[in-house]
Amino acid sequence: MSKKAFIFDLDGVIVDTAKYHFLAWRNLANTLGIPFSEAQNEQLKGVSRVRSLQKILEWGNKTISEEEFTNLMIEKNKEYLTYISTMNESEILPDVPRVLDYLIKNQQAIALGSASKNARIILEKVGLIDKFQAIVDGTNVTKGKPDPEVFLIGAKSVGVTPENCIVFEDSVAGIQAANSAQMISIGIGNEEVLHEADYVFTDFTTLTEEFMNSLFITEKV
Ligand code: BG6
Ligand code: MG
Repeated sequence: MSKKAFIFDLDGVIVDTAKYHFLAWRNLANTLGIPFSEAQNEQLKGVSRVRSLQKILEWGNKTISEEEFTNLMIEKNKEYLTYISTMNESEILPDVPRVLDYLIKNQQAIALGSASKNARIILEKVGLIDKFQAIVDGTNVTKGKPDPEVFLIGAKSVGVTPENCIVFEDSVAGIQAANSAQMISIGIGNEEVLHEADYVFTDFTTLTEEFMNSLFITEKV
């Protein structure tokens, strides 16, 4: 049996930070006079900070100077950091520790594959950082999801081939990234939104030990 690796996205999979990104982006968009809906926010999930701002400006048909762009990104992150500054383990999504501990008990490799540059701070705040053998985040990649780079680096860091990796993702861009990396993709969230995934679960509470056991012996075909 080949060695497997389980690669977790962070925002919206391990912790409910998607709501904080939403609040900060909506605030920024509204300041620019650009309306910002939940549906638009869905399209920003998994997308890098730079690309997210570019998209918002495109939606609002706005052109700004490079300097203003940089300042807006700093402002957005400042607001986001105030939201996450008070985070603790109560913001870990349901049953994430159960799943991580089951994988560890079964000697499975665990990596993080996140677009966020704030990933390490968040994992530390919620006390989960020690569960990960490798952390690949927005500071390690040159291409954002849906490019597979973040997951391919994650696989390499733990010495596992892509077809033996299983990715947990809440974003459309992330599922596409996992699929194009030839990894098994598991959507966490809405089945209609994440229809490109190999499997979808509303959350980790319905992810059984039997299902995890089956992943220990499956390869992406
Ligand atoms: C992803 C989020 O995990 O990280 C996106 O889903 C976010 O919404 C991206 O834009 C970058 O995060 P950060 O923390 O570097 O701004
Ligand atoms: Mg996410």
